[in-house]
Amino acid sequence: MSLGTQGGGTQHSAQHGTQHGTHRGTHHPGAMTADRAAAHLQRAREAAQSLEYLSGFGNEHSSEAVPGALPVGRNSPQRAPLGLYAEQLSGTAFTEPRANNRRSWLYRIRPSAAHPRFVRSDNGALRTAPFTETLPDPNRLRWDPLPEPAPGTDFLAGLWTLGGNGDAAQRTGMAVHLYAANSPMLDRVFTDADGELLIVPQQGGLLLRTEFGLLRADPGQVALVPRGVRLRVELLDPFVRGYVCENYGRPFTLPDLGPIGANGLANPRDFQAPVAAYEDDERGPGERHIEVIAKFCGNLWTARYAHSPLDVVAWHGNHVPYVYDLRRFNVIGSISYDHPDPSIFTVLTSPSDTPGLAGTDFVVFAPRWLVGEDTFRPPYFHRNVMSEYMGLIEGAYDAKSAEPGGFVPGGGSLHNMMSAHGPDRATYERASSAELRPQKVDDGLAFMFETRWPVLPTAQALGAELLQQGYDDVWRGMERHFRADASDPSDGSGSDASDGTGSAGSATEGGAESR
Ligand SMILES: [Fe+2]
Repeated sequence: MSLGTQGGGTQHSAQHGTQHGTHRGTHHPGAMTADRAAAHLQRAREAAQSLEYLSGFGNEHSSEAVPGALPVGRNSPQRAPLGLYAEQLSGTAFTEPRANNRRSWLYRIRPSAAHPRFVRSDNGALRTAPFTETLPDPNRLRWDPLPEPAPGTDFLAGLWTLGGNGDAAQRTGMAVHLYAANSPMLDRVFTDADGELLIVPQQGGLLLRTEFGLLRADPGQVALVPRGVRLRVELLDPFVRGYVCENYGRPFTLPDLGPIGANGLANPRDFQAPVAAYEDDERGPGERHIEVIAKFCGNLWTARYAHSPLDVVAWHGNHVPYVYDLRRFNVIGSISYDHPDPSIFTVLTSPSDTPGLAGTDFVVFAPRWLVGEDTFRPPYFHRNVMSEYMGLIEGAYDAKSAEPGGFVPGGGSLHNMMSAHGPDRATYERASSAELRPQKVDDGLAFMFETRWPVLPTAQALGAELLQQGYDDVWRGMERHFRADASDPSDGSGSDASDGTGSAGSATEGGAESR
């Protein structure tokens, strides 16, 4: 437990109150002038410098931006300190087991309950489960990155839903969104009742101003924003792009380690929560309102506030946002033979009611050494009962070409339940004859959202020009190597390798293996 006493960025009333044209009732805040955009970028970069964080996933953190703002010894005193209002934010049912329970206490200038009526607003390119727009399709799919959007597109307006599964109202399943933005959210605050947001920047940095304080997320890092937490996304670069997993299910948590032991994979201390920082921003009659946009059961609703809801002066609890640097992932792998199942790369998991069966796993393919002997080292061919959406943050993935038209940074692939996939032909040919010296794989950072149900693409995802045609071709022309009479004891495979591997040799009189 730790106590931060400083605001993580001075956020006070002198807000950017008089910008640009109207955006009431739409998603698009309108383009800023180049000068104003540059000034805003500069302010965000200054605010994002040397942020202070609290360390540790799932900790009972606490923080106060003003000394004495946090009550001591109770959560809800008759009068909270400094004239603040006390409010609990519950991310799990009150009654869930202590180990799973998520809640935080917020001490704020105005209670969240003091807000005007929400009215429906346009969903833009956001879609929500259940996904019923398209026919479930067994084909493997792959997309190019989103292009730069129209000027004035902020993070929320730039969200574009690729697909998902489950049912948001039932709190099951997930959605895959992409985002591309070139404007900060101005006088707009977003909150998602449908799920938590795992934001995976691919290009350009983000500054997240949340109720709990400020987080910075650059490419290679991920931000986790719990269900219901309000945030405003500002930009640290003129153009940003990335991925979002909206997890409708149980909150992401760290996977159990079992025989791995007490350490490894994503270490809890590397998850960083913000320190308290608040905006004291009241808007008078005739001044611009602050739009609070709530996503609720699949639709966006907007209320026009006369104050910033990012007005939490102190807080404590474990329902808090985090940032995590994927390069800190402790990669565990084989030091003898075979490629372990990619579950060994799980960063976060959203459990289901069935032990070991995740609603969604977040998996990273981080730099690592490959040393397996007599092993096909890239990811193997397989068919999986789980469904896999993969994205690429930078570089190349070791089973696919990253040439244009291939699996490129910012793009993504979808291998749904039982669809056959694996290394492309060139990768197979190379890796099946490569000399097996220790090899560092460090030229890329890929990730996967792996989920228990098929990911049903949206109509826009299937109709987009981004959808690559001919993805199947990466496996076309896989050469036939089988020869029933090709027993060759000199190929070095040895008798062990024919055991139960499904190799050609296992169907013959023994020992025969050919590639
Ligand atoms: Fe796979």
